Amino acid sequence: MIFAWLSVLISIAIVVALFISFWIFIFGDSPFLPAPMHVAKEVMKEAKIKKGQNFYDIGAGDGRFVHIAASKYGANAKGFEIDPSVYLLAKLRQWIFGWKGTIIRANTNHQSLKDADVVFCYMMPKCLKKFQKKFEKEMKKGSKIVSYTFKVGTLKPKRHIPKNKKRNSIYIYEL
Ligand SMILES: C[S@@+](CC[C@H](N)C(=O)[O-])C[C@H]1O[C@@H](n2cnc3c(N)ncnc32)[C@H](O)[C@@H]1O
Repeated sequence: MIFAWLSVLISIAIVVALFISFWIFIFGDSPFLPAPMHVAKEVMKEAKIKKGQNFYDIGAGDGRFVHIAASKYGANAKGFEIDPSVYLLAKLRQWIFGWKGTIIRANTNHQSLKDADVVFCYMMPKCLKKFQKKFEKEMKKGSKIVSYTFKVGTLKPKRHIPKNKKRNSIYIYEL
């Protein structure tokens, strides 16, 4: 009997999570579209993260950037992911493959970026435009924003690494 109820509860949870994911995918600002792993590695190299720095991926996806920041660069790496199904995928990556870093199921709009040294974003321009205000309001002087493919609103990048055959542009900002 307990097993039957448990199965029903798990099924309901899965259906609710899938419904939320579908809703976010259709109506959200930035759907889940992971950057290829070779791109993630190159972007992280350009980010020049130092050991012990606070790194945030503000739309973490399956957590690949968080994993690279933590395992390769020794960063204190955290990722926020709004979509429950994608969050679960990130947690599975950690449980099965031992991916590093902290993944939090949250809307980045409600999270503080005050202690961030480096923020990474791979999001649609509309979404980045909204985040610009949050970056300027919360992030400390000297901290960095690394954006893959799209510019962050009207901010002026310190460096622009142009698109090539293998990947899109990388924009690096310093506040
Ligand atoms: C284009 S994907 C990038 C995933 C990952 N950073 C990568 O590059 O492989 C954007 C991700 O941001 C998430 N997202 C969008 N808006 C968000 C928000 N306000 N807070 C947290 N996550 C968000 C989406 O669910 C999606 O997984």
